[in-house]
Amino acid sequence: SDMAHLIRRPPVVTVMGHVDHGKTSLLDAIRKTRVAAGEAGGITQHIGAYQVDVPHGDEHRKITFLDTPGHEAFTAMRARGTKVTDVAVLVVAADDGVRPQTLEAISHARAAEVPIVVAINKIDKEGAQPDRVKQELSGLDLVAEDWGGNTVMVPVSAIKGENIDKLLEMILLVTEVEDLQANPDRMARGTVIEAHLDKAKGPVATLLIQNGTLKAGDVLAAGPILGKVRAMVDDTGKRVKQAGPSSAVEALGFSEVPTAGDEFEVYTDEKSARAVVGDRATEARATRLAQQMA
Ligand code: GTP
Ligand code: NA
Ligand code: MG
Repeated sequence: SDMAHLIRRPPVVTVMGHVDHGKTSLLDAIRKTRVAAGEAGGITQHIGAYQVDVPHGDEHRKITFLDTPGHEAFTAMRARGTKVTDVAVLVVAADDGVRPQTLEAISHARAAEVPIVVAINKIDKEGAQPDRVKQELSGLDLVAEDWGGNTVMVPVSAIKGENIDKLLEMILLVTEVEDLQANPDRMARGTVIEAHLDKAKGPVATLLIQNGTLKAGDVLAAGPILGKVRAMVDDTGKRVKQAGPSSAVEALGFSEVPTAGDEFEVYTDEKSARAVVGDRATEARATRLAQQMA
């Protein structure tokens, strides 16, 4: 409604790129840099998503990073045309250049209409050729700003921690032009980032909250799966009672394991959630039947 209380929400960033080009090392470096600078409150990675605090002018801004193995959620969201991430950081190793999964990452980001920031990694290495990487990317219509294009490319070394702050600053600049707003007062909706069955806890799901605030006790549906939030932990492993826009939590209380990439939303009561889930189950059965008959 026009009475909605809109706030700026942190950008959500996914790191992508070819195998061994340094995605995990870069995420480690980002965490360490921010810990070393003493600005983030406990950013020990507990779930496949975490927030860091970045100095930005006179203030601090948060960035949420998604560390999704195999980018399940990203692939699923592409199929559905929804948008989980605001920026894709494409990691390209300066000693290896553009490789098949680099191309795949570019096409994923483009299909989802997500802007790409390139991190040219491993610039500390003997055989590093950052200009060759820029050349190769130019052929794919990703032209560096200093080459007259409009793609932000930052040479970094995840291992040496070089230029990590610059990369974070650039991510904030790129997202500044996007209208990243959310209403913390509404019921939560978002996307399942990953999920598994824990023998003791039952279904465990990492949820990215894209709008609203998720609260303990909330009734929700993720795709065709019903749930009631029994407990939540944040990215530091701390038990929390609520979580706002662009944050990620691990939630317990689903009746079955939800599917990564499925959207979730909170309902006022179990009856309305059940009605939505019932319709989805009917729809899924009809689709299966149609497929079997084709
Ligand atoms: P996958 O998740 O398997 O696709 O790999 P990844 O992209 O996460 O790469 P990872 O961080 O596992 O790094 C792969 C290898 O490259 C490791 O041996 C790292 O130590 C090394 N590496 C990563 N970043 C750098 C860097 O900046 N400089 C150098 N010299 N080595 C790096
Ligand atoms: Na690796
Ligand atoms: Mg990795």
